[in-house]
Amino acid sequence: DSINVFAPATVANVACGFDIFGLAVDNPGDEVIVRKRNDDKIIIEKITGDDGKLTLDPTKNTVSVPIIKYLSQIDSKQGFDIVLNKKMPLGSGLGSSSASSVAGVFAVNKLLNSPLETKELLPFAMEGERIACGSAHADNVAPALLGGFVVIRSYAPLDFFQIPTPENLFVTIVHPDIEVNTKDARHILKNEVSMKKAISQMGNVGGMIAGLMSSDYSLIGRSMVDFIIEPIRSILIPQFFEVKMAATDAGALGCSISGAGPSIFAFSEGKETAEKVEKAMKQQFEKVGIHTNSYVSAIN
Ligand code: HSE
Repeated sequence: DSINVFAPATVANVACGFDIFGLAVDNPGDEVIVRKRNDDKIIIEKITGDDGKLTLDPTKNTVSVPIIKYLSQIDSKQGFDIVLNKKMPLGSGLGSSSASSVAGVFAVNKLLNSPLETKELLPFAMEGERIACGSAHADNVAPALLGGFVVIRSYAPLDFFQIPTPENLFVTIVHPDIEVNTKDARHILKNEVSMKKAISQMGNVGGMIAGLMSSDYSLIGRSMVDFIIEPIRSILIPQFFEVKMAATDAGALGCSISGAGPSIFAFSEGKETAEKVEKAMKQQFEKVGIHTNSYVSAIN
């Protein structure tokens, strides 16, 4: 009565879709092992890979909060032991907290013989996001849960859908060794957007969806422009514009901040180009002494 679940890293926003676009990659990802107990307690037995930063208090950890809400919703008194193996950096813009939230609630639902459908788990996973950064956005948890590229059409009521992506579209993610707190990165954003920027952004959102669905790589690249969030958040990431330039010079279709940053992602047509782009982006960070981890992956 135990299960081992992997939940992938995710790239949220995908340039123009703040809080509404997210995609899942093959790696990295978190691993969660959940075991049924003989009582009603929820215990976080062990966390690895977090340098001791995450709490073992089940009412405060993103892996267990969704589980507690889920069990209360389905009226279950079953207890569980949880082991969380963090296999991606925290505060990186890779959806680290979301991966844990998704893996936890998915594991428990499976162990209870799936009383809820996978997509019905999303609101519970979003509660993990609320604990992590004060806002229950779904653009990391939805792709971590469902896979692929997900669009959140509406938050109230919650309405989301998956769209197909081109087979040969690869994602390069470079994570510089600095930490950006998502709460802070949301706090610095403005509450209002000019009509001019809203129009440009809507054009790109439409272009991105159409480009992905029709495998039009050039349209995808042209739509990877963010007039609203990137100009503000990029100040939190040293070398942002230089790294972006290095990516496009190396052949990327486009490049932007992954989630709240500091990771930067690029899209490329073909794995070989994505790897070239990876090298160029890393080199640019390393020129100024910033160490990086990097990943090249399909959308999955
Ligand atoms: N859409 C979110 C943001 C993703 O950009 O703040 C990060 O969790």
